[in-house]
Amino acid sequence: MTEALNVFDYEALAASRLGAGAYDYYTGGANDELTLRENVEAFRRWQLRPRVLRDVSSPTSATTVLGQDVSLPVLVAPVAYQRAAHPDGEVGMARGTRAAGTIMCLSTFSTSSPADVAATGVDRWFQLYVPRDDALSRELCQQAAELGFAALVVTVDLPASGRRERDLRSGWVVPPEYLVSTVGLRGLRPHEFVAQVSPSVTWDDVGSLAAGTKLPVLLKGILTAEDALLAVEHGVAGIVVSNHGGRQLDGVPATIDVLGEIADAVDGRIEVLVDGGIRRGTDVVKALALGASAVLAGRAPLWGLAAAGEDGVRHVLELLRAEVELALQLLGCRSPAELTRAHVVRSPALA
Ligand SMILES: Cc1cc2nc3c(=O)[nH]c(=O)nc-3n(C[C@H](O)[C@H](O)[C@H](O)COP(=O)(O)O)c2cc1C
Repeated sequence: MTEALNVFDYEALAASRLGAGAYDYYTGGANDELTLRENVEAFRRWQLRPRVLRDVSSPTSATTVLGQDVSLPVLVAPVAYQRAAHPDGEVGMARGTRAAGTIMCLSTFSTSSPADVAATGVDRWFQLYVPRDDALSRELCQQAAELGFAALVVTVDLPASGRRERDLRSGWVVPPEYLVSTVGLRGLRPHEFVAQVSPSVTWDDVGSLAAGTKLPVLLKGILTAEDALLAVEHGVAGIVVSNHGGRQLDGVPATIDVLGEIADAVDGRIEVLVDGGIRRGTDVVKALALGASAVLAGRAPLWGLAAAGEDGVRHVLELLRAEVELALQLLGCRSPAELTRAHVVRSPALA
């Protein structure tokens, strides 16, 4: 292949470098992978409504998320076990993210320590799977705050792990040499932590989590307006509309198809982010037009990491930035802030 031109090229490069088991782990979804496919395909059913003659001579993709400046409205989603994609793992992801000028969200199940990620100087958020043990939960939140993670992203769509049949067939598990003591506490390794994720978390716990930390809390894995309203009531700073990249409950809608009703219900009271299926800058502008302040990308930067380490991460994010900027210009917008609901329409042929 000549130089990679887009995220799909990076996926092909990653597929050629990773073993089949690891590639399947990263690319796969739950059960029949209906939601996994839908996340990508649903973007194609939304079309753009460009406005012309608006002086778009100096467009910018820069914006603010939770008060933090980012150079593009794409953040790096929490993805587990990154050293199985590249020896630099989460540290490589962090350096590439920093070079591109955006925020990285570190998974609870990381294979580099939170301290090593913090040492890269990347703007960082910490993703929390709430453990059964309250004391451990408090320690994790405290560690995140001490290490300069600026927000806590609590994942709420994993009371149990989805059934990933590709992994059951391949038997792939994270190579044990990558499992350093990464939760960073009590010598717990991420695979040991999996069993400690609590299946009994409730809205009351969200209230106490938010009250017990200085960090803004976001809930990741919201798919209905009802739950979005509960999130507002429970005082969180924001939500991530997410179906976990199609890896949890198969058969739920694509996130882009529920984003509009959720953004309407929230009505600007808290920050709304979205992830799932982001592969193009045009996907990003569609999500922003439907009410998200930014998107998270999981697999896209991961393919960059697998293909070329931190340079691959940076390049994937730069490609997305260039695509976002061009889409904004062609839509008649000078910045993400100028995108409105009037810039998208559901394809009449496919609605
Ligand atoms: C291999 C893999 C591992 C993931 N690990 C986590 C995780 O540890 N915590 C979490 O909250 N989400 C995790 N996710 C979900 C992502 O944060 C994100 O919701 C999803 O990847 C978005 O879809 P996309 O990959 O199409 O961009 C993971 C996703 C993938 C693909």
